[in-house]
Amino acid sequence: MTTAAETAGRYRRFAEVEARGYSPRYEAWCLSISTDGEILDLLGTLPSPRRQPNLFLGAARYLGVPIGDYAGFRSFVLDHRDDVRQVMLQRSTQTNEAGRCAVLLPSLAAISTEEGRPLALIEVGASAGACLYPDRYAYAYAPGPALQPLGGSTVPAIECSVSGDVPLPATLPQVLWRAGIDLHPLDAGDDDDVRWLEALVWPEHSARAERLRAALDVVRADPPLLVRGDLNEQLLPLVEQAPPDAVVVVFHSAVLAYLDAPGRDRFRSTMLDLVRGRGRAVHWLSHEGHGTLAGVSGALAKEAQERDGRFLLQHNGHAIARTGPHGQSIEWL
Ligand SMILES: C[S@@+](CC[C@H](N)C(=O)[O-])C[C@H]1O[C@@H](n2cnc3c(N)ncnc32)[C@H](O)[C@@H]1O
Repeated sequence: MTTAAETAGRYRRFAEVEARGYSPRYEAWCLSISTDGEILDLLGTLPSPRRQPNLFLGAARYLGVPIGDYAGFRSFVLDHRDDVRQVMLQRSTQTNEAGRCAVLLPSLAAISTEEGRPLALIEVGASAGACLYPDRYAYAYAPGPALQPLGGSTVPAIECSVSGDVPLPATLPQVLWRAGIDLHPLDAGDDDDVRWLEALVWPEHSARAERLRAALDVVRADPPLLVRGDLNEQLLPLVEQAPPDAVVVVFHSAVLAYLDAPGRDRFRSTMLDLVRGRGRAVHWLSHEGHGTLAGVSGALAKEAQERDGRFLLQHNGHAIARTGPHGQSIEWL
């Protein structure tokens, strides 16, 4: 049973750790929420996992909350409390960030080169599938090359700052086949789903919002195979469907936090079996934050990781890079 004090602590932590320096508006709103009894009472009518700051803020944005001072946020939310609750019960945080392709790309290109074959991508926890198109986006690494697909990209170049010896590719790898699994796949062709994805982008991040809209155009023009269901149930049948002349890469980003510990253990052991298996070549790229990495070698201790705030990129279970959670930076280990 989560108490109001625990919910208040969650919003204060979100303000101080996640939003500070990244979204002044959300930092201010969440600090105020953490001391606002009436709003905490409203949140207290929801099951604990549904009291997430990102879900509450996204629901308010989806319903049209004015981006201004806390008083305006507060009165909007209280005036629309039933609608806010309904959105928070129906939707979940499914932020789809194409920028993460910038930190996956070096490994994807190296895998394709080493295996001498194009890629068959399987993303578990794919949301609308925007991360399944690393071959369709343009990239501006700094320092490093500017890369783009032959014929250019309709998506603004993804900027990524680089440190350490990142094996940046000279060209983009070829993707032969792409598929995703999600508990609730979002449809890039559905206006309501698109509005929800836009509401999940933080208010000051206009470049991310622009990238999202352009990436969803790419998805709409050539939709991936998106399978509805639990990643632990759907993964093996999907690996079987991948074309034999491609190397399979199973990847995920900001997903394991939604699984319980047994679900994460089951997934890790499935992936390690696939990676070590004697059948077809399968690679595994994991891009995840703290809290899901206990026992993983190369992860920082929990407290250090929380202060650091970055994600860990792993290839076949080995830590290879620390990254900005939205793909904005990569430091090779
Ligand atoms: C924060 S989003 C990240 C989306 C995408 N990977 C990205 O980086 O842009 C997490 C996604 O994982 C999905 N998800 C959570 N648990 C899942 C499960 N057990 N099986 C399949 N998908 C799951 C959610 O529905 C959501 O779309």
